[in-house]
Amino acid sequence: MKKSNPKTTEAPRLRENADPDEGIRPLPWFLVMLLGAMAMWGAFYIYTTPSGEDSAYGDQRTVADLRPPVTAVGAVSTVNGKQVYGAKCAACHQATGLGVAGVFPPLADSEWVLGDDKRLINILLHGVNGAMVVKGVEYKGAMPAWKSMSDEELAAVMTYIRTDWGNKAPEITAVAVKAQREATASRTGPYNGGQEL
Ligand code: HEC
Repeated sequence: MKKSNPKTTEAPRLRENADPDEGIRPLPWFLVMLLGAMAMWGAFYIYTTPSGEDSAYGDQRTVADLRPPVTAVGAVSTVNGKQVYGAKCAACHQATGLGVAGVFPPLADSEWVLGDDKRLINILLHGVNGAMVVKGVEYKGAMPAWKSMSDEELAAVMTYIRTDWGNKAPEITAVAVKAQREATASRTGPYNGGQEL
């Protein structure tokens, strides 16, 4: 066997650098002092800051305190009619107020919305079942009753549908809704179409 020349076999190894090692590099002393000082200050702050009343006192407001007060005549309601509309009505009557042709009647420029206050309140309170003509087109659907909504919510949503999409009709107050709710308290089912309204 041919002997290898030690000079040529050693050369590549000798060319290599030594493996690097990590060494010990401690955090700078001023950083350690700063962190310590901040922790001490934090503890001092939490310990010395008064936290107010004893938690046993609690928040003693009741649901009644948080509800908006029953709106007096002419007062501005805190319920957002547009929001109520989006949540309860837009699925059928659409955000545009144009309804769906032949299925859900439009509220924009509707004679029922712009017409008599009491009649509109009745529609909302008790719903309508059966044929009703809106803007010359007959609808035979079912409009649900919204009795479960509060006077304020009903007033807000009716005021909203009377003032968006180019509609211009006077607002409907919670007081008017309340009065109509009491006047029609004996009614249990929906109105039988436009005839009965
Ligand atoms: C489930 C679908 C549906 C929902 C939800 C609904 N409606 Fe109706 N609405 C109808 C239908 C259908 C009619 C027509 C009833 C008929 O044909 O007898 C109608 C009729 C009306 C009318 C009288 C006709 C007109 O177009 O002016 C008004 C006003 C009205 N709805 C307002 C509302 C308001 C305000 C809400 C939300 C609080 C609402 N509706 C939610 C389906 C709905």
